[in-house]
Amino acid sequence: MPRLLVVHYSPTPTVQALADAVLEGARTAEDEGVEILVRHALEATTDDVLAADGFILGTTANFGYISGALKHFFDTTYDATHETTTRKPFSYWIHGAFDTTGAERAMTSITTGYGLRLATPPLAFTGPPNAEHLEAARELGGTVAWSLAM
Ligand SMILES: Cc1cc2nc3c(=O)[nH]c(=O)nc-3n(C[C@H](O)[C@H](O)[C@H](O)COP(=O)(O)O)c2cc1C
Repeated sequence: MPRLLVVHYSPTPTVQALADAVLEGARTAEDEGVEILVRHALEATTDDVLAADGFILGTTANFGYISGALKHFFDTTYDATHETTTRKPFSYWIHGAFDTTGAERAMTSITTGYGLRLATPPLAFTGPPNAEHLEAARELGGTVAWSLAM
């Protein structure tokens, strides 16, 4: 059974709504046999990564970078997993209040280290999510999850 691992840090209602929309989209692939495992960024483990066929990562922008929580996930799983993640599909979302540039740069360079393959363009924006953002989040979740069903 293909497994999608969603690792995210969503500390406010605004970003939790974004995470919920991504998961809503991803869950449309469950009927196709895709299993979805959702982990808080501080709780995801090396075994979670080793068992996953695809990934969705979500974070806030913090201090011009990704959140410390998602950074912790990367710091604690990279060594044991990066040789197994090459070419596996993924995408991500980043939410900020004013500028997500540094977080996007970090995400690109870290996921390149894991050898991951973007299955669909990431979603990165600032300010309150509107209906289009939430729809894009659902679509992102659905696209990565359905890529595992095929
Ligand atoms: C300590 C801290 C640092 C932050 N740094 C940034 C930043 O560098 N860039 C940015 O766009 N937003 C930054 N933010 C805002 C968060 O990204 C934002 O609060 C988060 O995405 C949740 O959105 P919300 O506050 O609208 O619910 C920061 C927030 C905190 C608490």
